[in-house]
Amino acid sequence: MEPLYLTTPIYYANGEPHLGHTYTTVVVDLLARFWRARGRRVFTVTGTDEHGDKNARAAAAAGVSPKEWVDRISAEFRSTWDAAGLRYDHFVRTTDEYHVAFVRRVLAAIHEKGDIYFGSYRGLYCFGCERFYQERELVDGVCPDHRVAPTEIAEENYFFRMSAYQERLAALLDERPDLITPEGYRREVLALLREPIGDLCISRPKSRLDWGITLPFDERYVTYVWFDALLSYVSALEHHGLRDVYWPAAHHLIAKDILKPHAVYWPTMLMAAGLPIYRRLCVHGYWQMQTGKMSKSVGNVVRPLEMKSRYGMDAFRYYLLRDMAFGQDAEFSEAALVTRLNADLANGLGNLASRVLRMQQSYFQGTVQPRAPEPVDEALRAAFVTARRELEANVEDLAFHRALEALWRALDHANKYVTDTAPFTLAKDPARRPRVGAILHELCETLRVTAQLVEPFLPETALRLAAMLALPPEKLRDLDLPWGHGFAEGHRTAPPEPLFPRVEAVPE
Ligand code: MSP
Repeated sequence: MEPLYLTTPIYYANGEPHLGHTYTTVVVDLLARFWRARGRRVFTVTGTDEHGDKNARAAAAAGVSPKEWVDRISAEFRSTWDAAGLRYDHFVRTTDEYHVAFVRRVLAAIHEKGDIYFGSYRGLYCFGCERFYQERELVDGVCPDHRVAPTEIAEENYFFRMSAYQERLAALLDERPDLITPEGYRREVLALLREPIGDLCISRPKSRLDWGITLPFDERYVTYVWFDALLSYVSALEHHGLRDVYWPAAHHLIAKDILKPHAVYWPTMLMAAGLPIYRRLCVHGYWQMQTGKMSKSVGNVVRPLEMKSRYGMDAFRYYLLRDMAFGQDAEFSEAALVTRLNADLANGLGNLASRVLRMQQSYFQGTVQPRAPEPVDEALRAAFVTARRELEANVEDLAFHRALEALWRALDHANKYVTDTAPFTLAKDPARRPRVGAILHELCETLRVTAQLVEPFLPETALRLAAMLALPPEKLRDLDLPWGHGFAEGHRTAPPEPLFPRVEAVPE
């Protein structure tokens, strides 16, 4: 299997981490866990994008220097991901020296080659997006994302000769139909390429903004945001001496807001720098709020650690992964989160685990009994074989909601199996005790396989299930351990603890 390099966008250091950032970071965490469990070498990167107007303005508003400000915000992103159990192998800060040096090296090389030139420019700039807009990209004269009229800017600047690579980019999209996924976003990019893409303004005179990376060939100018941020995907690997292992095996995870920079600027920059193009761009939709765009002033910012303290991180992850179809927009609703938590987690999975382990405890003091498979048992096993196949195929397609649906179909089957085989009734007849033990053995296997399959989605739950089953970590990790081999003779499971307490009240 090819090694896998997974990236989130590096987030602007102009505000705190929220739901949107969390979703992409959860998806990367999930994919990393999923592929590592299947033996693939994985490296993950997230971080903060610290230069540019946006961050400098936020610092000024807070009355501190830009560096003090980005130190504070990047630390907040880091500690949030750590507290949320979202792992990464490297955290990028675009103000780090190694990165600054890398950007200057690449700029010098592209300049040397003649693909960066000096010119004057008049254009419509959106500070929210930190890029110029072409007239036809605006909707009713405003930026479609930030809904504000762009500022007209005229100044002398450096430009990247992006237009020189337009044909090669179009050819690349034809050659590699899986470069941008889902398909809808690939079509959007193909449409962009039907018009001239123009050249990219990559600098700012220091007289107007000096919070950036000084150009190696002109001290009076800085570069910032796109030419700076996109290169962090490669500088991070180089910093760890891993470029040969993981580039170009990159899968970039982003939302649709930054499609053009990733699908047009980035590949043409790589072409100019003589680097191979990333493997895949995975684009998801937007979480919409019922009350409009998420913002502090509206008071509708969803903070990941607040969700964690209210419902637990796994319940929040489950909701995010189950209620958004990757690629499409979804509406965030805490009421919907609570419904999922109660129905799928407390009732579906939690209830199954506590029923099984309680019976296992009260009938056999936890000791796992011998199996004696009957056709119903075989059907239960088969349901989980199917669930694994479907879950894996769906994760490979980034259809996380379908992957969870597949596993929950098997869990429904398991809950029905408990009702149909009725071990609690059989247990009243001492002669049927061996059958009760055998049924519970099948159900312990069910919980073991569930813990394994659910781990990338709900890592804490997987560990708690494994602890209740008293399974050593190597058994939890062994995905190919056949059904019936999870528990040696005499193995004792632990008494159950509630996995997901029901939530009764939904906050307004
Ligand atoms: N700094 C640039 C990215 C540079 S990458 C080389 C940037 N930063 S950002 O802070 O605005 O982050 C944008 C990303 O945050 C989106 O692409 C997405 O990953 C995530 N989200 C922010 N808000 C979102 C939603 N409401 N819904 C889903 N994800 C969104 O752009």
